[in-house]
Amino acid sequence: MLISKTIAEAQSACAQLRGEGRVVGRTLGLVPTMGALHEGHLSLARAARAACDAVAVSIFVNPTQFGPNEDFSKYPRTFENDCALLEREGVDLIFAPTVEEMYPAWASTFVIVEGVSDRLDGASRPGHFRGVTTVVSKLFHIIAPHKAFFGQKDAAQVAVLRKMVRDLNFPLQFVVCPIVREADGLALSSRNHYLSEKERQQALVLHRALQKVEEAVASGEGSSSKLIEAAGLVLAQEPGVRVDYIAVVDPDTLEDVSDVRGALVAVAAFVGTTRLIDNILL
Ligand code: PAF
Repeated sequence: MLISKTIAEAQSACAQLRGEGRVVGRTLGLVPTMGALHEGHLSLARAARAACDAVAVSIFVNPTQFGPNEDFSKYPRTFENDCALLEREGVDLIFAPTVEEMYPAWASTFVIVEGVSDRLDGASRPGHFRGVTTVVSKLFHIIAPHKAFFGQKDAAQVAVLRKMVRDLNFPLQFVVCPIVREADGLALSSRNHYLSEKERQQALVLHRALQKVEEAVASGEGSSSKLIEAAGLVLAQEPGVRVDYIAVVDPDTLEDVSDVRGALVAVAAFVGTTRLIDNILL
């Protein structure tokens, strides 16, 4: 497994991994991450391993997607452990650039997907998706993967990036993998590192709220406002949890829907100071 910190080295390693110059090329999969890897990330690496001849994983805590009062400096960084985990998954290349390598002082180009980037997490975290789409565009150009793997847990990110891939004609397949949960239902997230034992228990209310929505739909409820109300009542049972949003939206546009069939039900809430997200597709 090669660990590359520079763009030039990663580009030439990826050309080899894609089998450039050979009669029969090889498929290259990319799993973009910010490190602090957990089973959710590893499930993406496994999906890439199963679907592609070679796998690259990027580890880069991307400053441009954090707001001024967010957790960029304290975001968990567990590089040695991440490398050991990825080696075990049979990953071929880790691309782990520095901030200066990705964003030299002279760079002034950003990628913005208008509309969808301002909804859900984009509404709560202004500028967040501009950072995500910019860094992911750069990663797509540097690694030039045939397939790129993302987790459904970041449902709004999936909508924004899927649109970017379509709008900008990136020649790759965009693969979305299911949410990985702990046995008690908590969706895996690197930010779970921040939770105290008590907060971790409180955080389970996000999953319970979504389960309530599923139950309501199974018993015939079809009104999105009623579903939002039902989820809100469950979330209100945990006083340590402050709701950011509960939304029933079209999974592609993130716009509100009246017909809940096929809708995305997404929640974001602060547990103490940690902002967590979770969702289900109906
Ligand atoms: O989902 C993440 O971890 C990040 O937003 C991503 C896609 C790696 C871009 O920095």
